[in-house]
Amino acid sequence: MAQLAAPVTVVTTADGEGRRWGFTASAVTSVSLDPPRILVGITHGSSCHQPLLEAGQFVVNVLAGRHDTLAMRFAARGTDRFAGGEFEDWPGTRLPYLPDAAVLLRCAVRDIVPVGDHDLLLAEPLEAHTGGSSGALVWYQRSFHVPVQTAHLGEAAAGAA
Ligand SMILES: Cc1cc2nc3c(=O)[nH]c(=O)nc-3n(C[C@H](O)[C@H](O)[C@H](O)COP(=O)(O)O)c2cc1C
Repeated sequence: MAQLAAPVTVVTTADGEGRRWGFTASAVTSVSLDPPRILVGITHGSSCHQPLLEAGQFVVNVLAGRHDTLAMRFAARGTDRFAGGEFEDWPGTRLPYLPDAAVLLRCAVRDIVPVGDHDLLLAEPLEAHTGGSSGALVWYQRSFHVPVQTAHLGEAAAGAA
C-alpha cells in the first residue's frame, strides 16, 4: 500500500459539547457524482471514531504542501491537536475548519460500511470552498510529497515527432 499515492486531509468534527476532534486521513476519495458522495475511512481504534459517527457531520480539510507539520500533529497521540489555533468554526456550526486549507468540504454522513477494522463513511458534500493555500500534499512511500506536473501530453507528443 505504500506505493499508492494518496491525498492528505484533516477530517474534523465537534461533539455535542462543542469539543473539537480531528485526525489526519489519507483514505479519502470521491466515489459518486449522482448522488454526490465521498468516502472517508476511519479505523475503529481512532479517538475520533465515536465523535464522528455521533456527530454525523464533518469537514474534510484538504491539505496543501506546506501543511506537513500540521498533518503530523493531527496523527500524533497525547497532544492537543488544535493547540496551534489555526482552526475556526464553520459559519453556523461548531465544526472546525482550516481557513488555510487547499479545499474545504463540509459533509453529512449518509451511509456507514464496516470493512474489517475500519468504517467507510459515505458522505454527502454540502458545501465546498477553496481555501487559502494552493497545491496538494500527498502521502507516498510513508512520507509527504508535493506533486510535480509532468510534461504536457501535447508537448510530449511534439517532442517525440
Ligand atoms: C498520512 C497519514 C494518513 C492517515 N490516514 C488515516 C485514515 O485515512 N484513517 C484513519 O483512521 N487513520 C489515518 N491515519 C492515522 C490517524 O491520523 C491517527 O494517527 C490515528 O487515528 C490515531 O489517532 P488517535 O490518537 O486519535 O486514535 C493516518 C495517519 C497519517 C500520518
